[in-house]
Amino acid sequence: MSDAYQEAHDLSLTDPAAFWGKAAEDIHWVKRWDKVLDESNPPFYRWFVGGELNTCYNAVDRHVEAGHGDRAAIIYDSPITGTKRTTTYAELKQQTASFAGVLADQGVTKGDRVIIYMPMVPEALVAMLACARLGAVHSVVFGGFAANELATRINDAKPKVVVAASCGLEPGRVIAYKPLLDEAIRVATHKPDRCVILQREQKPGDLIAGRDVDWAEAVSSARPHDCVPVQATDPLYILYTSGTTGQPKGVVRDNGGHAVALKWTMKAIYNMEPGEVYWAASDVGWVVGHSYICYGPLLHGCTTVVFEGKPVGTPDAGTFWRVISEHKIPVLFTAPTAFRAIKKEDPNGELLQKYDLSHFRTLFLAGERADPNTITWAQAQLKVPVIDHWWQTETGWAIAANCMGLQEFPVKLGSPTKAVPGWNVQVLGEDKQPVAPGQIGALVCKLPLPPGTLPTLWNADDRFRQAYMDEYPGYYKTGDAGFVDEEGYVYVMTRTDDIINVAGHRLSTGAMEEVLANHPDVAECAVIGVHDDMKGQMPLGFLVLKAGVTKPHAEVVAEAVKMVRETIGPVAAFKKALVVNRLPKTRSGKILRGTMQKIADHEEFKMPATIDDPDILPEIEDALKEVGLAK
Ligand code: COA
Ligand code: AMP
Repeated sequence: MSDAYQEAHDLSLTDPAAFWGKAAEDIHWVKRWDKVLDESNPPFYRWFVGGELNTCYNAVDRHVEAGHGDRAAIIYDSPITGTKRTTTYAELKQQTASFAGVLADQGVTKGDRVIIYMPMVPEALVAMLACARLGAVHSVVFGGFAANELATRINDAKPKVVVAASCGLEPGRVIAYKPLLDEAIRVATHKPDRCVILQREQKPGDLIAGRDVDWAEAVSSARPHDCVPVQATDPLYILYTSGTTGQPKGVVRDNGGHAVALKWTMKAIYNMEPGEVYWAASDVGWVVGHSYICYGPLLHGCTTVVFEGKPVGTPDAGTFWRVISEHKIPVLFTAPTAFRAIKKEDPNGELLQKYDLSHFRTLFLAGERADPNTITWAQAQLKVPVIDHWWQTETGWAIAANCMGLQEFPVKLGSPTKAVPGWNVQVLGEDKQPVAPGQIGALVCKLPLPPGTLPTLWNADDRFRQAYMDEYPGYYKTGDAGFVDEEGYVYVMTRTDDIINVAGHRLSTGAMEEVLANHPDVAECAVIGVHDDMKGQMPLGFLVLKAGVTKPHAEVVAEAVKMVRETIGPVAAFKKALVVNRLPKTRSGKILRGTMQKIADHEEFKMPATIDDPDILPEIEDALKEVGLAK
């Protein structure tokens, strides 16, 4: 039996410079690196120091120069608008160079930040690649966030330019992005110089004279801009993700390590060959969209799919099969929740029978725990390997996976298989020492992390240390808990912080609590994630009202729900809250969110030894029963 996995994994840990130095040969460098790994300033590790490259060149121009200009780079498939459009690599080069020219005309140069607020249209990729072409740093903001969240990101990233679409399309409704953008800029303390607006016919936006520029008009007069070489260690993008507070964390990605690692994963993990079509059914606003809608497939010379639709309802639960069949897609990557949604609508897979999926090879799932039922259902329907893999915005690519291009292992349900080469995954107990196989503890990764992971947080080195590095010196804290079995299979069970996962979207309950606490009638509050059959988890709020509030509880709850939607956005999916008299706490005043969640999810729990007043728990249980939760 081949030991390709073990050999690669061993080498990646014993001699990371040799392992990644070899992988880096697959990338085009303007100047070769001086050192593969600089370990002189831990925990700030740097990859390919002294090297110069351009990520856009590697993702686009390089393929055209190699004679693949006619190959499809992007397939845009939008069941919502009824549009299908293919962009070749030659066209993508021309569009990206022109849009880089537009950005340069607006004063964007190397190192400047550009915020991109766009839905799933190919222009979102063009905007990202154009920034990379100039050496500018993009920060894509997901369309499901409200103006306030966009403003927070504008204030932190301080963009010179914002690139936005006039609208996004959700099934049955048009989301006007332009008013959200205008409101975000109004409340932000930092003001971008310019906004470039892609006018979509479903809802064009009103342009503000002197500030806003029309995308199409600007492109028509732009001079194409060439690729600007950057340092391997220069930032390519910032992607904000939920932390424990309302202030999101700006995960930084560099250019060199990112290009090397992503290109390597396309073959090693996904077993893709250049020229094949790769589909990540996610959104450009999430890390999956960055790594596997935009950069990974293009760096590897694959065709990527920009899908503007949902797994169900656009128009039905057979859409995924239609797209796979029509575009001859061998590999799909999506979140388990998408499959749960399809299973709910079409439990017997009848719609699947309408399509030829004979070329389909592998389904990859990530973004949340893949429950065994979903995996076995997908296996039974598709009759191909269903591969769970575990990763995070911070890591940019998988920490644990079944590396299909290296060596396939038998799937164990509930496990994303083994640590990917580059990753030294350990499980530490409360004493911060490794625990025995099979024992649950904190999942951590021994430093240095492989290339393509986060070198730091944007303008927040201290927060980087404190959030990820301080608790377990010498290790990166993933924030997940789980175990590793005797055979090295990793199991990811739960988060150790207040982050919840709703429909594959990572959300901070702390951020929701911050919003609820601003309601004038709320004295105290807590938000927990409760089990949901389709979305995995759903947020649930508990509100303790101020003394003397006589307003009907339903009214306060409706206002609270509206506040979260307006402040964080519809993606928070905050729809339920309960009014209670008191919250269970420890004697030191910490709210016992974990215990509340266990009661709601019918899980066994131990009465916390530190609980201040055990009599509160039955009250919580009664309140949960009233809304159909708890036993
Ligand atoms: N712009 C504006 N609003 C958005 C949005 C966007 N880009 N994305 C989602 N929303 C809105 C939805 O319309 C919904 O609004 P509503 O409360 O008015 O119905 C709300 O945010 C919650 O969205 P979501 O949690 O996605 O629920 P849904 O019912 O619309 O769809 C699924 C459920 C399972 C079909 C959908 O979540 C899905 O396809 N998930 C795949 C997850 C995924 O791609 N994850 C990325 C990591 S791999
Ligand atoms: P995000 O940063 O949005 O990608 O979310 C990362 C978090 O999602 C991880 O820390 C996990 O809690 C969860 N997650 C992602 N993939 C998996 C998986 N395959 N199994 C279990 N949890 C996962």
